[in-house]
Amino acid sequence: MKNVLVIGSTGQIGSELTMKLRSLYKEGQIVAGYIPGAEPKGILLESGPSEIVNVTNGGQIKEVVAKYKIDTIYNLAALLSATAEKKPLLAWDIQMNGLINILEVAREYGCAVFTPSSIGSFGPNTPHDDTPQDTIQRPTSMYGVTKVATELLSDYYFHKYGVDTRSVRFPGLISYTTLPGGGTTDYAVEIYYAAVKGEEFVCPIAKGTYMDMMYMPDALKAAVDIMEADPTRLVHRNSFNIASMSFDPEGVYEAIKKEIPGVRMRYQVDPVRQAIADSWPNRMDDTCARNEWDWMPHYDLDSMTRDMIEHLREKLL
Ligand code: SER
Repeated sequence: MKNVLVIGSTGQIGSELTMKLRSLYKEGQIVAGYIPGAEPKGILLESGPSEIVNVTNGGQIKEVVAKYKIDTIYNLAALLSATAEKKPLLAWDIQMNGLINILEVAREYGCAVFTPSSIGSFGPNTPHDDTPQDTIQRPTSMYGVTKVATELLSDYYFHKYGVDTRSVRFPGLISYTTLPGGGTTDYAVEIYYAAVKGEEFVCPIAKGTYMDMMYMPDALKAAVDIMEADPTRLVHRNSFNIASMSFDPEGVYEAIKKEIPGVRMRYQVDPVRQAIADSWPNRMDDTCARNEWDWMPHYDLDSMTRDMIEHLREKLL
C-alpha cells in the first residue's frame, strides 16, 4: 500500500482509517474521498489530499485513481442497516452499483480493494452461536442482501480478473470520534454518550439480544492487516469473520456502571432494529482470520469501556 483512496472518508470508519493510514504510510498519498455535504474538516482536511468521489459515478473514481496513481481502494461508502430498510433502492445503488464501479476501475488500474462486509451478511437460519466462517448466508435485510452480494462480487473479480479483493465481516463498531448513523448496533455507541452526559439512555434493542461488537482501534487494525497479509496464506478472501466481544444491552450497561455508577437505561424497543438484530449472530467464530493472517483483537468490553469513557469525558465535558 502506498497511494490509497478512502471512499467515505468522513464516515464512522473512514474518518479514523484515513488518519491511521496517513500515519502509517508517510511516503504515499492517502486521498480522502467524500461526497458534497460530507466534506472533511480540521485535521482530516489539513493532513492530506481530499477529492470528491461519489461511488455511483465511475468516471469520478477513475479520474482520482489515475491522478494519484492509487494502488489500494478502501470502499467505505454504505447505508447502514436501519437506514437501508427505509431506502432500499438507494442502499442497492450505493452498495452494489458503487462496488461494481470501483471493481471495474480496480481491474483497469490494478488496484487492491477492501469493501467491508458485516455481521449483517447473516440471517435467521445461520447458526447464531460460534457462527462459522463458511455457513448459510440468507439475510433478510436489504443491508444484508447487499453485503452478501458484495462478498460474492468481490470474490468473483478476484477469481475472474485477479483483482486483489479482501475484506472482513465487521461486528458493530464502537468509537468516540465519529458517530455511526442508522445502524442496528448504534445503541452500543449512544449508551456511552448518554452515560457520560448524565442522561438516561433509551435502548431500542431488547435485553438478551447478543451481537458481536468491536472497539474501533481493533477494527482499523483489521482493515490494515488484511490488506497487508501474505496472499499465499489466504484460503478465504471475502470476507473473514472477526470478533472480539459479544454482549447484550445489559452487558454494556453493567460494564459502564462499574465506571459511572449513576448510569440510567430503560427499554423502548424499535421493532425494525430488533427484527434485524434477532436475525444476526450472537457471536462469530473467527478462527480462520486468526489462522490465515494472525488476527488478534486487543480490547475487551471492560478495557474498551474505560477508554471510551475517558475520551468522551475529554470530548463532551
Ligand atoms: N453496524 C452495522 C449496522 O448496525 C452492522 O454492520 O447496521
